Amino acid sequence: LNNGVAITPPMGWNTWNHFGCDTSEINSQLIYETATAMVTSGMAAVGYEYINLDDCWLAKERDADGRLQADPIRFPQGIAPLADYVHSLGLKMGIYEDVGNLTCGGYPGSENYFEIDMKTFAEWGMDYVKMDGCYFPVDDMEETYTQLSEILNATGRPMVYSCSWPTYAFVNNQTVNFTYIGEICNLWREFDDIRDNFDSWTGILDQMMQYNRAPYASPGHWNDPDMLEIGNGGQTTAEYQSFFSLWSIIAAPLIAGNDIRNMSADIINILTNADIIAVDQDALGIQGQRAYQSGTSEVWTRPLVGGAIAAVLFNRGEQPATIELTSDILQVSSNSQFLMRDLWQKTAPTQVFQGSSSFSNIDAHAVIMLKLSPITGSFGFILPQLRLC
Ligand code: GLA
Repeated sequence: LNNGVAITPPMGWNTWNHFGCDTSEINSQLIYETATAMVTSGMAAVGYEYINLDDCWLAKERDADGRLQADPIRFPQGIAPLADYVHSLGLKMGIYEDVGNLTCGGYPGSENYFEIDMKTFAEWGMDYVKMDGCYFPVDDMEETYTQLSEILNATGRPMVYSCSWPTYAFVNNQTVNFTYIGEICNLWREFDDIRDNFDSWTGILDQMMQYNRAPYASPGHWNDPDMLEIGNGGQTTAEYQSFFSLWSIIAAPLIAGNDIRNMSADIINILTNADIIAVDQDALGIQGQRAYQSGTSEVWTRPLVGGAIAAVLFNRGEQPATIELTSDILQVSSNSQFLMRDLWQKTAPTQVFQGSSSFSNIDAHAVIMLKLSPITGSFGFILPQLRLC
């Protein structure tokens, strides 16, 4: 959707993966504290900006004028003051609704109230709307998601528009036109809800490849493989590093799904790795793909601005592995030279890649993530080594 937002994949946080529909947790205090933590943890400084309320924020009834209202006990001042606070920190706020008559969690849906609800969201200062598709006929989704896109635009407030339509099409074995989805939505879910385990997120990656979704991503239009689970406790540090690396290679929205008020140093280090975030946010907006697969060894690559390439050497197996990176895998000539930087070890980019390079002892479920920067000058010459003297 060309509405001026989501030019790079949105970055932020969402309640769902950690707090689900726990009404003892989803309240205004959580939003105030999380927005504050977004700044104090260093996440805001590296680009996270959206604070997104997912399902279960609503009162069970609309107000006397038919407007949505937040649960009055848990959000006594409503949503607008929360958005004011979030905005005062330089951040943005998002919210969840559903095109059916109920949300997936059983709260009032938006069906028959699209105009008033989108206007309400705009008035409250929302910057991001996730529209789910529970309790709604999938055959009517094309028309409805299109209509909502127009209604959002007509509010005059730019809001990221996240569409769940393909998720419901997928489970109903219906095909959708992803070029068209990209015209009306900024991002779209398709596959099953993510869980905090290795098989869940690697399964989503496999589906992205199986169904060849990468070509549909570009600035303003993103495949959404679902939110992060990093820090929720179900995986090892190596697995979370792999998860973050692969999500960045495929230009995924980076929406943290943990309790960011309370994170270990390891988790902060993963979520705030600026080099890897820079890959995710690369201005070309090309979604990376699996370029090599042999058994449980994989290499994923992504073209970056300036002829650079990001590569993830991914050991999906249960034993340490050696993975060879080659110019064939990178689809570059065997003469091309690159400087390699290891984005987790944060090594200085001094090692030269040409032809092939072997990486041994990659731990089970771990990655090596590299940025390869071309060292051929624009006239085709090899640049001389820089000397500092
Ligand atoms: C669906 C979505 C999830 C979450 C829940 C809320 O399952 O896919 O991301 O929003 O609904 O009920």
